[in-house]
Amino acid sequence: MFDRSQFPEGFLWGAATSAYQIEGGAQGGAGRTHWDDFAATPGNVEGAENGDVACDHIGRMDEDLDLLKDLGLDIYRFSTSWARVLPEGTGTPNQKGLDFYDRLVDGLLERGLKPAWTLYHWELPSVLADKGGWRNRDIGDWFAEYADLMAARIGDRVWSAAPINEPWCVAWLSHFEGVHAPGLRDIRAAARAMHHVLYAHGRAVEVLRGANVSNVGAVCNFEYSNPASDSEDDRRAARTYDAIYNRFFTGGLFHGAYPEEVLEGLEPHLPHGWQDDMPLIGQKLDWLGVNYYTRKNIAAAPGPWPALAPVDGSLPKTQVGWEIYPEGLRHFLNQVARDAPGLPIYVTENGLAAEAPHQDDQRISYLTDHIEQARRAMAEDGVPLAGYITWSLLDNYEWSLGYGPRFGLVHVDYDTLERSPKASYHALKSALKRSA
Ligand code: FCB
Repeated sequence: MFDRSQFPEGFLWGAATSAYQIEGGAQGGAGRTHWDDFAATPGNVEGAENGDVACDHIGRMDEDLDLLKDLGLDIYRFSTSWARVLPEGTGTPNQKGLDFYDRLVDGLLERGLKPAWTLYHWELPSVLADKGGWRNRDIGDWFAEYADLMAARIGDRVWSAAPINEPWCVAWLSHFEGVHAPGLRDIRAAARAMHHVLYAHGRAVEVLRGANVSNVGAVCNFEYSNPASDSEDDRRAARTYDAIYNRFFTGGLFHGAYPEEVLEGLEPHLPHGWQDDMPLIGQKLDWLGVNYYTRKNIAAAPGPWPALAPVDGSLPKTQVGWEIYPEGLRHFLNQVARDAPGLPIYVTENGLAAEAPHQDDQRISYLTDHIEQARRAMAEDGVPLAGYITWSLLDNYEWSLGYGPRFGLVHVDYDTLERSPKASYHALKSALKRSA
């Protein structure tokens, strides 16, 4: 695969998961979330599957932390569930939920693992969704309250904190494309969510700094936008897709401005006075996380802005049909290094869905090829890359695709909930072994 010694001493390796995808949301007094509502609505999720049980990480946390340690990792990137600790979104906390995250963080530290904490990985409490969720500017206050509660509880022991996982998914995929909860397809809702997700990020950064939480960053996702043909129309469409996906959020975080190609469509729908939030949004960060999986081929399409559509591509694909394009990772590592010169960068998610329950050779070669691109970005292009975190430790609930896609280094039998490490787990373990 590769060898730890090909990377600088101190380069960190990790695996990621998220709360709703593994914990088991129906246990431990967690409140209802908009993912429960979305999944209960016919047609939204494969088999109408939900996160009620998931991998029962709530009941099997120690076993899962042992798997991380035995693999030889340095970091575990996890998220806390807002609804588990504040079932009503605000107000009275659920002590059992807070205790669980205390034990999780302590369990990581006892095993010598660095806790990399994400505050929001998509399970918005239903009560807040009722009030408009990400469309409502009050989400800044609600999120700040949640950040404050959690910072007081685990903020002294986490290694890093990132307010929001993948703003593009929270805003665009969920409010314009309708693919994730709350399943809206509405340009005004999307515009508001695009801005409010960054506004809430800024509010949480303020709270985390105020509570002396160390190493505060942000995690964005990126998808390589490839014009379906050389025509001027397709190239324009690919640029628009790139601006919405790959430049809007970093524009807010690092340049105090949104890309022109996006304002062309969204400006009329953005909340009044959005420009005034830019200093809050652009507060200094300690690191940036890059999540990268695939590329899309984009063609011009009839209809209103953004007037584009993805078309099928020719590269080899994963279990869920995503094209495999490792060079895209190097491209984005260079892009963000230009956006924020000198800022430490981490790959915070990268991986694939592969059907093979145990002998997952496709995962081994996918990881090998992407890690090599990351190494080149660092060694040949001078990108200040400081670590690589793969998605995911376990097979888990893949959102609207349900439990079919298998993203884990460890196989989960959803009938018995038994964990078994796959070939990729063993390959990564031997790559990470330190020579004596
Ligand atoms: C990312 C999400 C993560 C998982 C992977 C496959 O966009 O952050 O929860 O679903 O994709």
